[in-house]
Amino acid sequence: MNKIAVFASGTGSNYDAIMKAIQQGKLKADVRLLVCDQPDAAVIQKARNYGTSVFIVDRKEYASKVAFEQDIVNALEKHQIDWVILAGYMRLIGETLLQPYQGRIVNIHPSLLPSFPGLDAIGQSYQAGVKITGVTIHYVDEGMDTGTIIAQEAVKLEENMSLEELQKAIQKIEHQLYPATIQQLIQKGE
Ligand code: GAR
Repeated sequence: MNKIAVFASGTGSNYDAIMKAIQQGKLKADVRLLVCDQPDAAVIQKARNYGTSVFIVDRKEYASKVAFEQDIVNALEKHQIDWVILAGYMRLIGETLLQPYQGRIVNIHPSLLPSFPGLDAIGQSYQAGVKITGVTIHYVDEGMDTGTIIAQEAVKLEENMSLEELQKAIQKIEHQLYPATIQQLIQKGE
């Protein structure tokens, strides 16, 4: 039960961290597929460099969300995927995808949920002037960053910390917490 599809829309630093953890033997998983909904995303080249199969799905090319997600489900089934790992995939998951992978879709979010769900969580937290923020890993349901929480780690905002420094601190935590949490989930699911 360790065959993974990573879903991403952007840079792919979390995808990269997952691949590095596998290379280092810290994560015993097989990333069979990268699903990307943005044809120009930097994560696509990263996946090609690692030799991961890439499935690019452009929502504009589908008549409905159901058709879009059904095409993704078909690709997941073809690759016999056990776990769907969202890593900066900026799209709500619908019933077509949720139903067959119930309890096996996981997301990472750069705040301590339920605070600051949605887009630009780091910017939102920074603007709000919080003294503590962090990273959440949770199961995915039909809501926006609302599923059951699996793991969280806090980041303390130092005096005069810039937004860029906060982004770096959050990413540093994401890159170790996500692979470690995926490893725990895989072990439990075996
Ligand atoms: C990550 O910080 C992730 O937590 C966030 O997108 C970034 C993707 O970075 N996800 C969300 O905000 C989901 N609501 P990456 O492309 O470098 O991995």
